[in-house]
Amino acid sequence: MNYNDAKVLLEKKNQGHVLEGFENLSEAEQSTLLKQISELDWDAIALVQGEKIVKPTIGKIEPLGAVDIKEIEARKDEFEKAGLEALKDGKVAALLLAGGMGTRLGSDKPKGETNVGLTKEIYIFQRHIECLLEVSKACGKTVPLYVMTSEKNDEETQRFFKEKNYFGYPEEDVAFFQQEMITAVDYDGKILKEEPGRLATSPNGNGGWFSSLAKAGLVEDMKKRGVEWINLFAVDNVLQKICDPAFVGATLLSGKESGSKVVRKVEPHEKMGVLCREDGKPSIVEYYEMSDEMAEATNADGELTYAFGVILNYLFKMDKLEEIVAAKLPVHVVEKKIPYITAEGEHVKPEEPNGYKFETLVVDMIRLLDDTLPYEVVREKEFAPIKNLHGVDSLDSARELLQKNGVEL
Ligand code: UTP
Repeated sequence: MNYNDAKVLLEKKNQGHVLEGFENLSEAEQSTLLKQISELDWDAIALVQGEKIVKPTIGKIEPLGAVDIKEIEARKDEFEKAGLEALKDGKVAALLLAGGMGTRLGSDKPKGETNVGLTKEIYIFQRHIECLLEVSKACGKTVPLYVMTSEKNDEETQRFFKEKNYFGYPEEDVAFFQQEMITAVDYDGKILKEEPGRLATSPNGNGGWFSSLAKAGLVEDMKKRGVEWINLFAVDNVLQKICDPAFVGATLLSGKESGSKVVRKVEPHEKMGVLCREDGKPSIVEYYEMSDEMAEATNADGELTYAFGVILNYLFKMDKLEEIVAAKLPVHVVEKKIPYITAEGEHVKPEEPNGYKFETLVVDMIRLLDDTLPYEVVREKEFAPIKNLHGVDSLDSARELLQKNGVEL
């Protein structure tokens, strides 16, 4: 895209400010900026129309039961046997979502570099690797690990893994790839810049992982290795089991095209997405989309009707993913603190949210599947997410849970 085309386009979209000071930029900066402009997602930006935000609609919601802890206990051997076999045959890969910004933790480092140890170093990344080493040992084959980073944290993440010698994992079984970035806007929908020659961008949410994986040529790599299933997991849950043989086995034996680990909510309004059926298909309704009536509904036995919350640990069947990836995921508009540069050239790092980011979410992938196996895990043993420094779902609460589970910190 050349300057004139960019100018016409931006003026038409009421974003003429983006090219202010263009003549003062170096040639390299000019071409970076023009490239960013040519890649702008105007459909996403159109979702912010002044103060009015277009929200996705919700269909007809019904409850969805889970394979519960009791049933899993009763069929543990059968599930584990099937899971270990698939793992041993190299049919399962692990995929770590580590492209987020972790803004709530307030650190500039990748979240996985957070040290959860107290008297020794135990990094979040290390917890995941140790878990995978254990599974690899149990099945007799190294589970391939794919790590999604973003432009903002890729270099540092890869440097850290190298510095720590991959925490003992075979380097040839770990691959990194970057997710795409998307431009952020202020509350009036005006595109923000982070430098005079650069738009303010942030990672595009955790929903784009499969297309980014494919773009990086890694779907081909998986196929060459004979991978048929991907265990997708979030970086911040330091208690989770990855490629858990029983979960893998239960999902495979169910004949469904995905599995979703769930925990029982501790209270009706707990801030987690709830697994249910929407218009007959599995779906996750986020806590902020849920009415009080839905959140508080109970069965005849007094239990919550919508009791199962997702913990971002899913198994997906590869061939199904290839089918659904063509479908466009809805874009969510999220209020965030977005660092920017003013027209006068002053860099601002806001203390409060000052605009919107656009994200696609993994939860929306579930809606595109015909079925999923909700698989209940004991939350005190498998769910310790680190979102904040203190309070609920924090570094403090995760440390407490790790210690309760016998992990020496
Ligand atoms: P969160 O929704 O907690 O987002 O991510 P976050 O960016 O880590 O943290 P905040 O909201 O800024 O404080 C859930 C999982 O999805 C990944 C995260 O790395 C985490 O594993 N994620 C999130 C991505 O990989 N990319 C994204 O763009 C967003």
